Amino acid sequence: MNSTHIPAHIAIIMDGNGRWAKQRGLKRTEGHKAGTETARAVVTHCRKLGVKHLTLYTFSKENWSRPKDEVKTLFELLTSFLTKEEKSLKEQGIRLKVLGELDDMPLTVRQVLKHTMRKTKDCTAMTLNLALNYSGREDILRAARALATKGLSPEAITEEAFANELWTAGQPDPDLIIRTSGELRLSNYLLFQSAYSELYFTDVYWPNFTSEELDKAITELNTRQRRFGKTSDQLAGQ
Ligand code: IPE
Ligand code: IPE
Ligand code: MG
Repeated sequence: MNSTHIPAHIAIIMDGNGRWAKQRGLKRTEGHKAGTETARAVVTHCRKLGVKHLTLYTFSKENWSRPKDEVKTLFELLTSFLTKEEKSLKEQGIRLKVLGELDDMPLTVRQVLKHTMRKTKDCTAMTLNLALNYSGREDILRAARALATKGLSPEAITEEAFANELWTAGQPDPDLIIRTSGELRLSNYLLFQSAYSELYFTDVYWPNFTSEELDKAITELNTRQRRFGKTSDQLAGQ
C-alpha cells in the first residue's frame, strides 16, 4: 500500500455472518465465531497501516430483538475476544473505547469492557471503537439531552458543541464506511458522523473479509475526490 493515503478513521458494518454460516450448513453462531477471527485480523491490519481510529459495528440497539441464544453467544464471543486480546491490544498500542450505553449490557460484559478500557487507556497508536448496543439516533438524542441539561443557549448549540457530546467525542468523523454482505444501508450507524464519509459496499460476507479486501477499499477511496460541497475546479486550484 505504498504511497496510498491511509484514512484516519475507518468505520465498518460487519455484516453477513449469518448468511456465511447458512451457506455452509452451519449454525448462525458459527458465523459469528468466524466473524470474530476476521475482526481480530482487521484490527491488526489497520494498526499496521497506521489507521488512527477504527470503529466496528459490533451490536446494534436493534440487535436485542434477535433470538436470546444468539444474543447470548454474541456477548460470550465478545468477552472471550477481549479477555484473549487484552495483552495484544496493549502491545499494539491500541486503546479500546465503547460507543453505546454500557449500563444496559450484561454485568460480566460490562466488567470485561471496563477492565480492557482501563488497561489500554494510555495507548496512542490507534483507537478501537466498538459500537455496542449502538443506535445513531440514540447517539444524537443523548447529545441533545446533554446540551439541554447543561442549559446551553440556542446559539451555543453549534456543530462542534453537539459533536462533543456524541459517543465519538474528540475523534474525527469516519473518512470511510465499509459495509460487507451486499446490503446497501447504514442501519442506524454513525448518523451524525457520516455526513461526509465515503461509503464502500462489498458483497463479501464478513467472515470472508480479508486484509486484501480492506486494502481494496482503501485503494478505491484513494481514487475518489472528496469535494465537501466544492467544485472539482476549486479543489484543483488549491
Ligand atoms: C452481522 O452479521 C453480525 C451482527 C449483526 C451482530 P449478521 O448476523 O447480521 O448476518 P446476516 O445479515 O444474518 O447474514
Ligand atoms: C447491522 O447489521 C448491525 C451490525 C453489524 C452489528 P444488521 O444485520 O443488524 O442490520 P440490518 O438489520 O440488516 O439492517
Ligand atoms: Mg445482518
